[in-house]
Amino acid sequence: MTYVVTDACIRCKYMDCVEVCPVDCFYEGENMLVINPNECIDCGVCEPECPAEAILPDTEADTDKWVEINAKFSAEWPNITVKKDSPEDADEFKGKDGKYEEYFSPEPGTGD
Ligand code: SF4
Ligand code: F3S
Repeated sequence: MTYVVTDACIRCKYMDCVEVCPVDCFYEGENMLVINPNECIDCGVCEPECPAEAILPDTEADTDKWVEINAKFSAEWPNITVKKDSPEDADEFKGKDGKYEEYFSPEPGTGD
């Protein structure tokens, strides 16, 4: 199994998660992060750290799509291990529905 980042992260990107991961398996896109499922050791430490509740274990229902997206983009985006500033309007997007359809960006972030 693995943990995955879901669309609740999009445009929130609080990055508390990256500070606690013991294996540094978060990767940065323009407006969300993903987890590399092959590197995640399923420790679960990151899940309660996310203020947007964007991180789930893949044992939850309906996470197949997120496993695919996390696997695909973790291979393309740069690694991130240090928390940076969140977007200024992050709180406006917390808990919004349909963020993947409306705001997902395949562009990479800048990483560490
Ligand atoms: Fe990292 Fe553990 Fe979260 Fe996996 S579950 S991404 S290993 S902190
Ligand atoms: Fe995203 Fe939550 Fe991490 S909003 S960047 S998964 S702390």
